[in-house]
Amino acid sequence: MVEKYVYGTPFETDAVVVPTDCKNGHPPIGKTDIENGYTWTYTMSDNDIVYGLGEANRGINKRGYIYISNCTDESNHTEDICSLYTAHNFIIISGEQHWGLFFDYPSVISFDIGYSRQDLLTVHCDSSDLNVYIINGKNAYDVVLQFRKIIGQSYIPPKFAFGFGQSRNGYATEDELRQVLKGYRKNHIPLDMIFMDIDYMENFKDFTVNSESFPDFEAFVNEMREQKIHLIPIIDAGVKIEKGYDVYEEGVAGDYFCKREDNSIFAATVWPGRTHFPDFLNRNAREWFGKQYKKLLDIGIDGFWNDMNEPAIFHSDEGLGEVKQFLREYLDDTTDQFTTYHLFAHIGTLRNNPKDYTRFFHNVDGQRIRHDKVHNLYGYNMTRAASEAFERIVPSQRILMFSRSSYIGMHRYGGIWTGDNKSWWSHLLLNIKMMPSLNMCGFLYIGADLGGFGANTTRDLLLRWLAFGVFTPLMRNHTTRGTRAQECYAFEHPEDFKDIISVRYRLLPYIYSEYMKAALNNDLYFKPLGFLYPDDDIARSTEDQLIIGNEIMITPVYTQNVPGRIVYLPEDMLLVKFSGKSTIFTQQFFAGHHYIYIGLNEVVLFIRKGHCIPVAMPAETVGNVDSSTLTLFGYNGASYDLYEDDGISKNYEYSQKYLRRLSKTEQY
Ligand code: NOJ
Repeated sequence: MVEKYVYGTPFETDAVVVPTDCKNGHPPIGKTDIENGYTWTYTMSDNDIVYGLGEANRGINKRGYIYISNCTDESNHTEDICSLYTAHNFIIISGEQHWGLFFDYPSVISFDIGYSRQDLLTVHCDSSDLNVYIINGKNAYDVVLQFRKIIGQSYIPPKFAFGFGQSRNGYATEDELRQVLKGYRKNHIPLDMIFMDIDYMENFKDFTVNSESFPDFEAFVNEMREQKIHLIPIIDAGVKIEKGYDVYEEGVAGDYFCKREDNSIFAATVWPGRTHFPDFLNRNAREWFGKQYKKLLDIGIDGFWNDMNEPAIFHSDEGLGEVKQFLREYLDDTTDQFTTYHLFAHIGTLRNNPKDYTRFFHNVDGQRIRHDKVHNLYGYNMTRAASEAFERIVPSQRILMFSRSSYIGMHRYGGIWTGDNKSWWSHLLLNIKMMPSLNMCGFLYIGADLGGFGANTTRDLLLRWLAFGVFTPLMRNHTTRGTRAQECYAFEHPEDFKDIISVRYRLLPYIYSEYMKAALNNDLYFKPLGFLYPDDDIARSTEDQLIIGNEIMITPVYTQNVPGRIVYLPEDMLLVKFSGKSTIFTQQFFAGHHYIYIGLNEVVLFIRKGHCIPVAMPAETVGNVDSSTLTLFGYNGASYDLYEDDGISKNYEYSQKYLRRLSKTEQY
């Protein structure tokens, strides 16, 4: 049962697509206060778990900290960080009763889940103009399924996007990309995608290609495609201010950029230098920006990643002006009133300063809205602009699209990656925990920078991270400038990397089927154990193992220098271990705790009792996975519904047409 409570005059976010009955008064649970902004409080019982919040820090159970939805270009994902790149304002309280709450509010909103007082949950935002959706269900899983229905079907990428991809902030020339491909193919490590970070552009200008490093880009795209590689370029939110640059000129002429209060165009510095921000909340600006993708689609590009769309601001004109003013005072100061500390503090205000978000405005259907009031919708609408354009330009083709910033609703238009993590073991664990929460909020095509983006990775960390990445829909190795080489072939014994990544391709029929079933049925691909075993207290509090689809549980290793890990089996299960040289071992385990040995070149999964999964022969590209020779692993008598479609058109649906039942007749 879903109920909607409308407070004040909410901004229409388009997060919810199914009309819902509006109720008067306040929700039946918790206490609502609309005196000073909006505050909702709820006293949690000891046994309550609070799920949700999508891309947020810490655990699957969000209790014990404070989270603030305030889309931020935050590259330090340490435990104390409250805001990341996204705003996913959906929580589920699951204990004696099971409630879901979606706070559809486009600006900053905080979720104090036992931080100020351990048993108190407080949701607060400064204005009381919002829609609140309340869902009551049989259990947490049921609540999520009801929510997913009202926010609409999740984005479906082309099938090649389930292959492995290599990326680095710094690949700058055709030849560098050729070398990457060569490194992978020579070592027979599967690869389907190479991501192009900002260096492919001319001076970081969106929708341009540097003609010195890519003299004939179209030919290069074709050359790569002949070798079964999809090139996936990045697109940034800010448009460089440069006379003669068509996107800039058109944006000014069409009045598509965000404006200051005095009607001049707001300017801020990001990678290309001074830029203007397209007004993605404005329909016409969205349509215009979306059209730009055609330039790359026309030459064979079929995937993009949208970046810096919180929007990230290195500094605004105004911010720089203020710091310059301070510097003058600092340098001329004869009274010693300023210390170096003051200097650093001022310079520190330049980047991602909340004040800058009060300095520009959107034009939404003729209404002027200050950016900070709708801040969390910006990245969402950039990705929506792209996706709506794909629908017009290539209506029958799936295009790969994922974004850094997002709000619930954007899950219909694209996936996300989880931004600038670090090559830390703790971030591998964070990656594991974040995945089911994202699914609860509708985001299915998701993944983190495998190996870690910032800092130098290590061979063992990358191998362990890839072994988890085998199961994330987006499986991409990405790192930043200045870090050590992170391509899999850059390490000794590349065959170990081949072994791990090959498992992704062997499991592709399962991974793709489960993804499509989740998307088409508004279901989860990643589930916390508590969703399937709600009466099992250990399962309910296990956060380092996940259910994937309906048949398997994964138990990734996320600590260094260990030969394996303790796993918890809520029921009898069958271990399947993919070891080097394409060997597969199986072993039956009883419910309970076990120590499982997992080598650096091994991937382990457990098949749930009574289930089976299809496994393909190894392949080096998605196109070469042969689904006509699948082997079933699992329990005798079990069957599996394999989902198959052409992987590229939008002819997909959950129906017999695309499902093939496979039955297991032999033991294991
Ligand atoms: C920030 C993104 O999070 C990162 O992935 C990318 O490499 C840099 N921007 C440069 O484009």
